[in-house]
Amino acid sequence: MIAKIKKFLIVDFSKCLTLGDQLKIMFEILFISWVLFTLVYIVTLIRGHAAPDIPSSAETSQVSEVSHPETSVESSAEPSEETAEPVISSLLGETQTLPLGYDEIYKGDLVLVNKQYPCHSDGEGTVPLMGIKSDSYMATDYTVSLNEAIVPNLDNMLDDFYDIYGESEIMVACGYRSRSNQEEIFANEVDEVGEEEAEQWVARPGYSEHQTGLVLDFTLYNDTEQSSLKYDGTGIYSWINENSYRYGFIVRYPYGKEEITGYNHESWHFRYVGYAAAYYINANELTLEEYIKTVQQHGVDDPMLIDAGSEDKWYVYYIPAKKDQTTNVIVPRNVDYTVSGDNFSGFIVTAKVDIKG
Ligand code: DAL
Ligand code: ZN
Repeated sequence: MIAKIKKFLIVDFSKCLTLGDQLKIMFEILFISWVLFTLVYIVTLIRGHAAPDIPSSAETSQVSEVSHPETSVESSAEPSEETAEPVISSLLGETQTLPLGYDEIYKGDLVLVNKQYPCHSDGEGTVPLMGIKSDSYMATDYTVSLNEAIVPNLDNMLDDFYDIYGESEIMVACGYRSRSNQEEIFANEVDEVGEEEAEQWVARPGYSEHQTGLVLDFTLYNDTEQSSLKYDGTGIYSWINENSYRYGFIVRYPYGKEEITGYNHESWHFRYVGYAAAYYINANELTLEEYIKTVQQHGVDDPMLIDAGSEDKWYVYYIPAKKDQTTNVIVPRNVDYTVSGDNFSGFIVTAKVDIKG
């Protein structure tokens, strides 16, 4: 065929070809052109697939802005090296820094007071319950006091209980206890049952979480007989033990966890820890000791998501305190949060996820 083209190109038209030869050559040229065109088209298509359009920088930044507070912790756990912004800011928006002194680890709703860690506070912020509580329950006398901030939660819980069962025999027998008060109680218990047994039930002075003001003991008071009965959390009262977490309270010394808490089960002893922690502790059947240990595994770049459904979601993370120095605790700027010391090593931030935001 090439020979024919050559022949065609150098053809001497004076020597006329036959009409058949001319048509044949024209068809061959057309055929070659079609083959070449097709080849070029195929190559273009292949290159188009291998190298798609690269988005402009504006398009690229739009894609990265799509990250949302509800993004799972796992998928967003990579810290941004470029901006050095903590992961928490991609989950909760703008952040700010709170410079907290070391002593702040001894304050807050999540302080862990047990046989290992003594209480460093002494009734700050407590008020007599009698003057401010709702009518759905009783308090033994004016000496019973609680941290003022937790009273509305207690009211709500016992108001709801009263609405369901119409029973108002519940009495708060004990709230805040001073160190000297605890000393007396411990000594009496030792006299009664001996030191070994007493230690299973009563904290040594300085080591009772009653001293925080975040704790209360229930008893049942029969007005007709004017006598108190032990509150065992059974019968209708099981509602309280099962639902207290919804109001931020936990049964602090549960069955089967004696090795961890150091105390026998106390169905009457409730500790306020806030809704997020109480929800998680209840859902996972943990103690406060176990909850704090869990949270301590989650730093500001790997926060733990607590998802209580509907609009109740929080990110929780731990920041170790610098001994005898100020610690910069990163917190969100535009959503609700709490910071609590753990009472021995650092700070726990609990930040509400703003679903609407
Ligand atoms: N009954 C608890 C352990 C206390 O004495 O604080
Ligand atoms: Zn108690």
